[in-house]
Amino acid sequence: MGRPRCMPQQLLFILFLIANSFNADAAGVKFELIHRHHLHPGGALPLRKLVHSDASRAQAISRKVRSKFNASGELPLHSAADYGVGQYLVKLKMGTPGQHLVLIPDTGSDLTWTKCRYKCRGDDCGRIKTGHRSRVFHADRSSSFKTVPCSSTTCQTDLVDLFSLAICPSPLDPCAYDYSYVDGTSAQGIFAHETLTFSLTKGRTASLRNVLMGCSESSTGRSLLGADGIMGLGYSTNSNAVHAAGAFGGKFSYCLVDHLSPRSVSSHLIFGSYKDANVSVAWMRHTELVLGAIGTFYAVRVRGISVGGAMLDIPAEVWDFGRGGGAMLDSGTTLTVLTTPAYEPVMAALRGSLRGSQRVYEGEVGPLEYCFNSTGFDERVVPRFMLHFVDGARFEPPVKSYVIDDTPEVKCLGFADGGAGPGASIVGNIMQQNHLWEFDFGNRRLGFGPSSCA
Ligand SMILES: *[C@@H]1O[C@H](CO)[C@@H](O)[C@H](O)[C@H]1NC(C)=O
Ligand SMILES: *[C@@H]1O[C@H](CO)[C@@H](O)[C@H](O)[C@H]1NC(C)=O
Ligand SMILES: *[C@@H]1O[C@H](CO)[C@@H](O)[C@H](O)[C@H]1NC(C)=O
Repeated sequence: MGRPRCMPQQLLFILFLIANSFNADAAGVKFELIHRHHLHPGGALPLRKLVHSDASRAQAISRKVRSKFNASGELPLHSAADYGVGQYLVKLKMGTPGQHLVLIPDTGSDLTWTKCRYKCRGDDCGRIKTGHRSRVFHADRSSSFKTVPCSSTTCQTDLVDLFSLAICPSPLDPCAYDYSYVDGTSAQGIFAHETLTFSLTKGRTASLRNVLMGCSESSTGRSLLGADGIMGLGYSTNSNAVHAAGAFGGKFSYCLVDHLSPRSVSSHLIFGSYKDANVSVAWMRHTELVLGAIGTFYAVRVRGISVGGAMLDIPAEVWDFGRGGGAMLDSGTTLTVLTTPAYEPVMAALRGSLRGSQRVYEGEVGPLEYCFNSTGFDERVVPRFMLHFVDGARFEPPVKSYVIDDTPEVKCLGFADGGAGPGASIVGNIMQQNHLWEFDFGNRRLGFGPSSCA
């Protein structure tokens, strides 16, 4: 029954996960605002260009859509803590007949892919090494699996953003990809269209056909422990979020259970209105959901941060998209990442209250700079952290979302230094726990409210 142990080193790994375009180097951790999925050995993508093309794409997909269903679609969602990984996992069915899969829901990526077997060749068929507890999607057993031809414009133009490869030995060969994440996690496979099956909140099931997916015939990375692949929930025409939300009225939401919860505790990823689902939320607040300002991420306009009721002295450019700053939410990033001009005052304000505690792990490498022996810790000594949005809304997470458990005896301040910047700051998934978050594309509105997620 013990709580999973999450050493700082492990968290470092998690942080660099799917997650971010971070570069760890001798000088510390540097956040580069580039497309997170691409490794650019030669340097960053021209950001303005990226933002511009995303903005026009965003307009194309944000039309308000009427739901095809009279209920919402939902997928069970639980924490990956049982695997020692700082991620969440969703369960879904793909293909016809549906095959069960467990994917990491990542608002920071656009492609949904699963470990997959496309054509059974030779004696090894169905017996490939899949690693720890993972399943393989058998494309050959699904009647709805349709590959994208490598000669198509879809492959040659639309999927370039998702790292489609130019190789095309013969016109009907499947369009291939090589998707690399900054931490060294990578997936190679072919693009296809498939059917996803959802449970509906009113008890039936619904299928979404022709959803773009990746069939990864090879993948590597520790971040995938417990998962069969990744569900791309970014704001892009290719992502599941946009496709599924489109069918359910242009919105999706999730409620992240406490990140240390065992697998048996689950909530839902909901496409459509959360009001159709059985989520109890004390109240909801709303702020502008800024689409297209930071790639395909879900950005928010932050005015500042207060700790213990006092606004911290953080330069305005930290939150300014136009100057390469800004903030966003990400379900695939574990810790909350602040660029140095925000990180330092936040840490200083919180550390002050912990002066009486015995520090541990001092001098060890990792993103968690401040950890302490939590024997006798009383969270009432910690001043409240609050994120203030430009439009007046405020997000006040519980203390356990930023003074996080490392082991039963050690707690750490759950922030990571994103480097001097300019760069985006990220509200990570631990900070988002025990809240319902609603991403409403039609109204460009982010809703949030405290919830047990039960
Ligand atoms: C939802 O729609 C289906 C048919 O599309 C219908 O059978 C069902 O009764 C409807 N349910 C509700 C609660 O309106
Ligand atoms: C919602 O919750 C109520 C009470 O907790 C329960 O009676 C009902 O069956 C639930 N509905 C669904 C769709 O799960
Ligand atoms: C924390 O403090 C308690 C009591 O002083 C001690 O027994 C324990 O070993 C300490 N744990 C760590 C990890 O330092």
